[in-house]
Parts: sequence; C-alpha cells; structure tokens
Amino acid sequence: MTNKNTNSQQQVKLIKVDRIQVEPKLFLRASYNEDAIQRYKELYEAGKTKPLIVQTKTFQLIDGFHRLKAVQELELEDIEVIEENIPDVELRTEAVRLNSEHGVSLSKVERDEVIKKLYVEDNKTQREIGELFHLSQRHIGRILEKDILSKTNNCVVKEWLLNPNVNQTELAKQYDITQPRVSQIIKEFKQEIKEHYQIGCLKEEIIKWIDDTYNVSIETERLDEILLEFEDLNPDLVKLPKLILGDYLQVAKNIPDDSVDLILTDPPYGIDYQSNFKNEKFEKIQSDEINEETIEQWIREMTRILKPNKHFYCFTSWKVYPIWFKIISKYLPIKNCLIIKKKHWGLGDLEYSFASAYDMIIFAQKGKKPFNITSLKEASESSKNDPRHTIDYTQRLPDLIDWINSAEFNLKMKHPTQKSIEICELLIQISSNPKEIVFDPFAGSGTTLVSARKLERNWLGIEIDKKWFDIALERIKTQGVEQ
Ligand SMILES: C[S@@+](CC[C@H](N)C(=O)[O-])C[C@H]1O[C@@H](n2cnc3c(N)ncnc32)[C@H](O)[C@@H]1O
Repeated sequence: MTNKNTNSQQQVKLIKVDRIQVEPKLFLRASYNEDAIQRYKELYEAGKTKPLIVQTKTFQLIDGFHRLKAVQELELEDIEVIEENIPDVELRTEAVRLNSEHGVSLSKVERDEVIKKLYVEDNKTQREIGELFHLSQRHIGRILEKDILSKTNNCVVKEWLLNPNVNQTELAKQYDITQPRVSQIIKEFKQEIKEHYQIGCLKEEIIKWIDDTYNVSIETERLDEILLEFEDLNPDLVKLPKLILGDYLQVAKNIPDDSVDLILTDPPYGIDYQSNFKNEKFEKIQSDEINEETIEQWIREMTRILKPNKHFYCFTSWKVYPIWFKIISKYLPIKNCLIIKKKHWGLGDLEYSFASAYDMIIFAQKGKKPFNITSLKEASESSKNDPRHTIDYTQRLPDLIDWINSAEFNLKMKHPTQKSIEICELLIQISSNPKEIVFDPFAGSGTTLVSARKLERNWLGIEIDKKWFDIALERIKTQGVEQ
C-alpha cells in the first residue's frame, strides 16, 4: 500500500480492489449506467481518475460505484482511495453530498427514493433533507406524502393505541411533525373506526383490522371508548354487541327509546310452524306458540325503539294476519300489506290445499317518511333487461313484489323460514340510508342483518336460539356468501 498527498490535503491510498466493501444501501442509483462505466474504463486506462471515497478502516464504499465497476471490469488489482471517518447514520447523507459535488444529478425517481430512505431509515428531518437537495421543506413533504407520511401516521396511531396518554408534543418531535398534525392523525383514525362501525362491521372485525394495520391488539372496552367519544352515536347502543344472543324482551330493556332507523323483522308467527321445505324436517322455531299478549309486548317495544318518522316491516302469514294487523295498528298506522311472490313453494298438504306461493309483509310507519327510491330508479334503469327485475321502479312502487333471486332459494337454506336477501335489500334501500341502524329482534339466520351490512347500513339483531345465532354470525361475517 502506498500513500500520496492530494490537493485537498486528504491522503490518497492505493489498496487492493477486493478490499473495498460494497454496501448496496449507499448505491443511490436504480441501476448501473453502462456508458458511465465505459467512460471510467477509458479514464482509468488514460490514468486520469479521482480516488474513491471509502469509510476509514472498513473501506466501505461511499462514493465511486461506477469507478469501482470499471476497475473490476478492467481487472485492475489496485485502486486509489481516500478514507473518511463518517458516523454510520451519516453515510447516506455523505454519499448524496459527494454525488452532488460531481454535478451528476440523480433522476427524479432515484432522488425521491433516496429522500424516502433518508427520512425513514436515517431519521433525517424534512428540513435537513431539504437542505441536502436544495429543495424546500414543503417540497420534501410532498415527496414523502404519499407513502412515507402514511407510515408516519401509522406510527403515530400505533403509539397512541399503545398509550392513549402519550405526550403528543413528544410524539410530534419524534416523528418530525407538528403537534396539531399529531392530533389530526389521531382524530382521523377515530373517524375511520367510527366509519367501520357505522357501515356494519362487527366490533371483533374492527379490532382485527386494527391489529392487522397497526400491530396492536386492543380490547372491546377500548374500542367502545373510542366510539363513545362521538356524540352522534347512541352510547347505549355502542355498549351492546351488534348481534345479541337472548330473549328480545329482556335485551330490549337495554335498548333506548327512538334509537333505530328501520325495523325489518320476521317474528315467529304464533303458529305451530314446522317447515317441510327440505327433505329432513327443521326443528320447531322458538316462541312459535306465543299468545296475543306477548305479540303486543313485542310490538310496543319495537314502537318505542324505532325513531320517529321511520319505517317498519314485519313478515307475516295469512293464517295469523288478522291478529298481527290488529295489534300493530294499535301502535303504528299500517300503510300496506306487501305480497312477495315466491319462486319456490312450500310442499305442505299436497292433495288438499293450494301451494303457498307468496309471503306477506305488513308495512307501517312511525310518523311520516317518504320512500328513498333514487338508487332503485337508477338500478331499475340500468338493468331493464334483467328478467328478475319485473318492477319498474321509475314508476310508483307496487305492493306486489316479484323480485327474487331463485339461486338463493335452493336447498342451501339454513333456516326453516329463511327470507330472501334480495327482498330485504330492496326494502332496506327504500326505507333507510347508509350508516343508519336496521333492527331485527328476531334475527333467525340473519337475513335482514346480512342485507343491511351489504348495503353499508349499521344494524342490530337479537336471536334467542344459539344454533341460529351462530349461523347468523357466520352469514354476517361472510356477507351472505354461502360457504
Ligand atoms: C321466523 S324466524 C326468522 C328467520 C329469518 N328471517 C331468516 O331469514 O333466517 C324467527 C326467529 O326468531 C327467533 N326467536 C323466537 N323467539 C325469540 C325471542 N323471544 N327473542 C329473540 N328471538 C326469538 C327464533 O329462534 C327464530 O330463529
């Protein structure tokens, strides 16, 4: 190894080429430039090159990647280097500084990539990076914005999730952002949680999403705390699970007055119902032998829970219609009885009665609410050729509905009185808006709730029977896509 002096007072050493350590993270380019290597080869052959810059003692290459490549391709044994003693976190900064000294600029893509690495890996501030590249701090902010700042957001949210009392001023310093920005990030995160909740996600799904996104697992109580901060969410409902296993009248004690936006339910009819639809008979439905007093308690509670100026739909059957009509009309003005034409008829008494080819739905209103048919009009106009859509929604809605996806009603039915998701979706669209709460106190296999969720409504359901409760929960999670 020989030493000689340069103009810059730094010592130039001649060392063996294979002693140079190449650390890819200091290579600022996306790839090598063959022309540059060729040019350096010519310069080396002419003996007109500058020494490489390397880290003291380790000979880690800081500047001169193309020159080194040229030397390697020329199979030279020795190379001139200048050693510099640079702290590890400053190595990339030094590489950028030396690169710009040569006057060879990086492409925009290469430059932005280096800027991101300086920010994320070397913890440089936006101001320091700006100075290095002769760009304003705002310009650096814009470059970082898309993915790095979202990483910063994630880090801030994560710190806050781990410790809700975290010092926000400290957090701001740590991530090189302002304190108002920290509060803004946390506020936006809470807003996102609220959005998930309102478009029908289960609490457990929101908790899983938080875990997947921020790698922090939180308890349901913490999720509730976040939601309870929003004054426009009903605190009593927030504290309840969305699907509740229990007896409706018992659960209803915890549901406040005027708290849901739509009731769409299919209660036990009060007849000894045992479906023959499938080959093997279903078990009996709970409460199918109820009396008028119970029905009245049910309706009274639903009326109390429904907000004013909202809609109420209740499936029924011709056999019990007079009883239900009488009781419902004591509490809510009944506007229609909808007839839903069925594609598949019950088997029943094959030789001595007609096959039942329809369902009935009592439609009532608490106060007055107009139909919400704009989206249906659009759907109707864009699907004129769909044979299932036999109603012209551009006209007044008729009380005879014939819009059933027959594929849904095959032997995959999970509940003896399972209803059509399409019918429920139709009614939910007519009578509610996204994020509003759809309530079904007799959830069964969850058809109303699945439909509400598919339409980004919030929902609340009760089911007394664990078997149907489990099936409903599964259907809600898979949004009605049968497994
Ligand atoms: C007619 S089914 C609803 C079927 C539902 N529409 C579907 O598509 O699957 C009525 C449901 O109410 C449930 N149920 C009966 N009595 C109840 C009560 N007191 N509280 C809550 N659920 C009850 C029954 O177990 C049954 O699953």
